Amino acid sequence: MKKIIILGSTGSIGTNALEVIRNAKDKFQVIGISGYKNYELLVEQIEEFKPQYVCIGTEDGYKSLKDKFPLLELFYGEKGLVELSQIKDYDILLTAVSGAVGIDATVEGIKNEKTIALANKETMVAAGEYINQLLKKYKNAKIIPVDSEHSAIFQSIQAGKIDEIENLIITASGGTFRGKKKEELQNVTIDQALKHPTWKMGKKITIDSSTLVNKGLEVIEAHGLFGICYDNIKVLIHPQSIIHSMVEFKDKNIIAQLGIHDMKLPIQYAFTYPDRMANPIFNSLDLVKISSLTFEQPDNDVFRGLEFAYIAGKIGETMPVVLNAANEVAVDLFLNKKISFLTIYEIIEKSINRHKIQKITDIDIIKAVDKETREWIKSNYK
Ligand SMILES: NC(=O)c1ccc[n+]([C@@H]2O[C@H](COP(=O)([O-])OP(=O)(O)OC[C@H]3O[C@@H](n4cnc5c(N)ncnc54)[C@H](OP(=O)(O)O)[C@@H]3O)[C@@H](O)[C@H]2O)c1
Repeated sequence: MKKIIILGSTGSIGTNALEVIRNAKDKFQVIGISGYKNYELLVEQIEEFKPQYVCIGTEDGYKSLKDKFPLLELFYGEKGLVELSQIKDYDILLTAVSGAVGIDATVEGIKNEKTIALANKETMVAAGEYINQLLKKYKNAKIIPVDSEHSAIFQSIQAGKIDEIENLIITASGGTFRGKKKEELQNVTIDQALKHPTWKMGKKITIDSSTLVNKGLEVIEAHGLFGICYDNIKVLIHPQSIIHSMVEFKDKNIIAQLGIHDMKLPIQYAFTYPDRMANPIFNSLDLVKISSLTFEQPDNDVFRGLEFAYIAGKIGETMPVVLNAANEVAVDLFLNKKISFLTIYEIIEKSINRHKIQKITDIDIIKAVDKETREWIKSNYK
């Protein structure tokens, strides 16, 4: 029986993870969950899964939960996520909160020498180098990727050795605006941007998919997780989202992972790794019904997310922190109808251009750069 804590249990990844656990209660036990604003869903999850530990976003939420569940061990706020990760009595920490708020909790999970099922890609983007230093120090800790592309690479890599890899080939659906010209993106609405062609996900990552920033973040995440140079990380548009990514080895053999586009697959794999468990939810993938798998180059002139990520990733140090913070704020401004879709790119570009790179010697530098970038954008785009 593996004991699991889910940070972000009320989100898209979190609810998918609970569905995996609901179908394998003899294998997994939820001992901790966290939500932010969705109090009602968090209450439902507490009643169903009976965790020992719960974290909620606000002090008011904390007080209400305390009245309703006096025996629970409760936490709140960002500090609460950290405290939840520091508990000794668990095996896997699923980091499924959205945004850089996941960094501190992941760091604590590593210091606690636990297995991190990493969905929160922003952590690896903003703090990848720091996380890798920690992993060298806390040798029992490990990261199992949950992002479908990185799970695919992680599985495909097992066919060879890291130094035998020629290229990682990350696939992308292309997002909801694939094939559109820049002029057509000028006035797109939030509802249009939130219609993802294949995956059902939270709002932030769905917007990131439509700008291709998500794919850019995944390139940096892949560099951090697998240590492959940026020039050897390629991106291909694959609209069917059946091949979740591939690894090309030096002998030119390519190993790919295919599957239904549903996050329950990589979540289950991260929970059961290094073993595999019969899937209780899905039937086999019907390749005859899918019939064709197609590929195309991304349109980097219109969708600039990849360009920014390669620039930030290759510069390294604090630049990926800026990319991540700028994108988070820009997407939030777009979702709150404060800026247009294309202004997301403008904000990222300006933030990158104005940033003076610093060496990351500790986590406080990451936090300071993150904060400064957010404040600059907020004061310039109201
Ligand atoms: N969804 C996918 O298919 C997918 C695939 C690959 C990777 N990922 C990554 O997984 C992470 C989660 O994505 P998602 O789509 O599941 O997001 P989501 O549906 O928006 O859920 C986010 C979760 O984080 C909580 N949260 C939000 N802001 C918070 C804060 N400031 N402090 C503490 N908790 C906070 C939310 O709580 P409330 O809902 O209670 O407010 C919710 O539980 C992201 O990093 C994303 O890039 C997602």
